[in-house]
Amino acid sequence: MSIPPLSNVPTHVAIIMDGNGRWANKRGLPRTMGHRKGVEAVREAVRTAGEVGVRYLTLFAFSSENWTRPEDEISDLMGLLKAFIRRDLADLHRQNVRIRVIGDKTNLRSDILPLLLEAEETTRNNSGITLVIAFNYGARDEMARAMRSLAVDVKEGRMLPEQITPERIASRLDTAGIPDPDLVLRTSGEERLSNFLLWQAAYSELLFVPELWPDFNRDSFLAALERYATRERRFGGLSKPATLAVGS
Ligand code: IPE
Ligand code: IPE
Ligand code: MG
Repeated sequence: MSIPPLSNVPTHVAIIMDGNGRWANKRGLPRTMGHRKGVEAVREAVRTAGEVGVRYLTLFAFSSENWTRPEDEISDLMGLLKAFIRRDLADLHRQNVRIRVIGDKTNLRSDILPLLLEAEETTRNNSGITLVIAFNYGARDEMARAMRSLAVDVKEGRMLPEQITPERIASRLDTAGIPDPDLVLRTSGEERLSNFLLWQAAYSELLFVPELWPDFNRDSFLAALERYATRERRFGGLSKPATLAVGS
């Protein structure tokens, strides 16, 4: 199917992929089946984003709070992440996708960290869409780590407190160098951010859609982009006048 002409395509779309468990529950299946199906939706979302010209796609894969889930679910999710990178890395590389991982990488399991680093390293010079995987990610944790690194610079005399600016804070976040998301989208009907990109989403458009993540397909993505295109962003300023009246 060809792509309908899209106007005002966001540079950066960030997605809270929610609803895998409910998708499985509705079918009387174990939650892990929802996560499995969710991986297919990830593949489709990356393809669609690339097709329409989105430059950065951030996917919330596992939060720093998701460790509170039952051990067997965590182990399923880790297994799926590993399988995804093992199976899809070569294909993503061929698609010229550049992978970045955000989240706390310290103390990650020894079977996960090397795979994440390999994905980043293999694709670092690619020039296509940047796929940002938020893994072991929590915005408050990210901000605390950034503040700590600034505090060390101040303590050791490399920076004065008054030199701490929003730009310097942003440059210490995991997302350094990545533009703020234009659109933050959450599936499953929940209307909250759940500790996702709290700093970066200051002026993002928020969109909450009812589809459960495993059901979120190309058409759902295109429909979301169409809704985004009608939004008027102001960044605290005034909206642009449509046309100047003659003689004004
Ligand atoms: C999102 O689906 C995937 C992760 C959080 C890893 P959920 O597992 O949160 O599914 P629901 O919200 O329970 O339906
Ligand atoms: C947010 O979803 C995290 C991910 C999608 C990875 P959750 O399902 O963990 O969020 P809450 O608990 O409903 O707020
Ligand atoms: Mg959920």
